[in-house]
Amino acid sequence: MRVSFRLNGSVVEVDVEPHETLLNVLRDRLKIKSVKYGCGIGECGACTVILDGRPVTSCLVLAAKVGGSEVLTPDYVARTELGRRIVDAMLEEGAIQCGYCTPGFLTTIYAAIIRGVRDADSMRRALLGNLCRCTGYVNIMKAVKRLLEDVR
Ligand code: FES
Ligand code: FES
Repeated sequence: MRVSFRLNGSVVEVDVEPHETLLNVLRDRLKIKSVKYGCGIGECGACTVILDGRPVTSCLVLAAKVGGSEVLTPDYVARTELGRRIVDAMLEEGAIQCGYCTPGFLTTIYAAIIRGVRDADSMRRALLGNLCRCTGYVNIMKAVKRLLEDVR
């Protein structure tokens, strides 16, 4: 079936299988590799994208259902001014090691700030679905606190 949606500001049309996930379509059909495949079962957050303003795990979204929606991927987010500030804060605090989880964290943090999150506890709750196997979260939260002070 053919699906049309807005992807990072431009309309795309793509043929998808009824059972195909948005993650698969983004990575394999549209070649957007900033969206990462981690667990494939909604537990790690590596595949996070913004769907109609909300962060979602794209491995759990059927591509056939996103017709008419707006999807933003981590590479797009990283090119925005806020996205660059998030990446800078993470780099400055040593919050990136292997980097595999980073696109998901970036995207979730970006979506949370856009919808008005301004304190560390709320951001911690927003990030519950994002797992990092390397940094132990301390440096990620340091980056978040630095950023929140900046955007207040
Ligand atoms: S790959 Fe989607 S949540 Fe892990
Ligand atoms: S930096 Fe390696 S999984 Fe988070």
